[in-house]
Amino acid sequence: MIILGIESSCDETGMALYDSDVGLLGHVLSSQTKIHNKYGGVVPELASRDHVKKLVPLLDSLLVEQKLSLDEISLIAFTNGPGLLGPLLTGAAFAKTLAWVNNIRSIEIDHLEAHIFSAMISEKNLQPPFISLLVSGGHTLVSKIDQHNSYEIIGKSLDDSAGEVFDKVARKMGLKYPGGPEISMAAEKTKNSRYKFPRPMLNSNDLNFSFSGLKTHVVREIERIKLDDKLISEISYDFQEAIIDILIHKSITAAKMFDVPRIAVSGGVSANTRLRERFKNESPGIDVFFPSLEFSTDNGAMIAYLGYLKSNETTINNLKIQPSPTSSVF
Ligand code: KG4
Ligand code: ZN
Repeated sequence: MIILGIESSCDETGMALYDSDVGLLGHVLSSQTKIHNKYGGVVPELASRDHVKKLVPLLDSLLVEQKLSLDEISLIAFTNGPGLLGPLLTGAAFAKTLAWVNNIRSIEIDHLEAHIFSAMISEKNLQPPFISLLVSGGHTLVSKIDQHNSYEIIGKSLDDSAGEVFDKVARKMGLKYPGGPEISMAAEKTKNSRYKFPRPMLNSNDLNFSFSGLKTHVVREIERIKLDDKLISEISYDFQEAIIDILIHKSITAAKMFDVPRIAVSGGVSANTRLRERFKNESPGIDVFFPSLEFSTDNGAMIAYLGYLKSNETTINNLKIQPSPTSSVF
């Protein structure tokens, strides 16, 4: 069975083909970062317009590359939320029309769930149960995953997500959008820092997070000083270490608390080199899995893959999208 996955929840148009016997066949991605860069964040209307432009050519190129035709596809999986309303609508309308005209079944996919299982695309040793740490631009969630359709959220950010504070602090320092990779690059230029920022809720007796106080603290410091490249590197260094300290500590606590010695880290922030390196070194006795780098940030492969995992579930034939997190799950 071949599944087509379509992602359009924010500023990436992604498409992929997954074969239930062979695995991932291929994927294509069009990123809009150049469009949104000068605004310091995603402009929803510009994002929708670009999705409209890219959906058809991306599908054509993917089918040509894989030497496949639409009649060989048995299921179309598309993101129905959470995300930006306009971008979600363009992808949903495209996916539903394609499915209807070609008499193909379609399935709605929750973007967060897709991130959670993204490491399983390449990591064949990763199977539930596992602890999931999802760190994206919109969410920071710790969940206990028992099966692909059975979860329990055991921790979340009470305010900003980790990705969001990376983006906001980067913007304050005049770095480009998205801020995560920019801060990571700036941090790599130094081995230490004169700063020691707070690690909010590091020792709270729960698995929740709070990043907005850290963001405000760093922003106030930036406003107080005259920034130069050295200071940008040193601020980036300890700011990144602070976030990583908290993410690692909470995930390991969750793994121990539930006696599940496997952690899967996913979402855009999981692309962070230092986070990957430190997680592996600081979690003896626990297997830590990450998606391939290209599937950390938004992509069509994770949508096609979750479509495959859910391929036996009943299809819902409407054009419903869920800009806010799907209530039944998160
Ligand atoms: O998962 P994602 O692509 O989109 C959402 O679903 O939100 O995550 C985007 C977020 C942005 O906040 C971006 O700054 C962050 O992931 N990000 C990173 C890195 N690459 C992307 N954060 C830290 N280090 C990175 N290398
Ligand atoms: Zn995402």
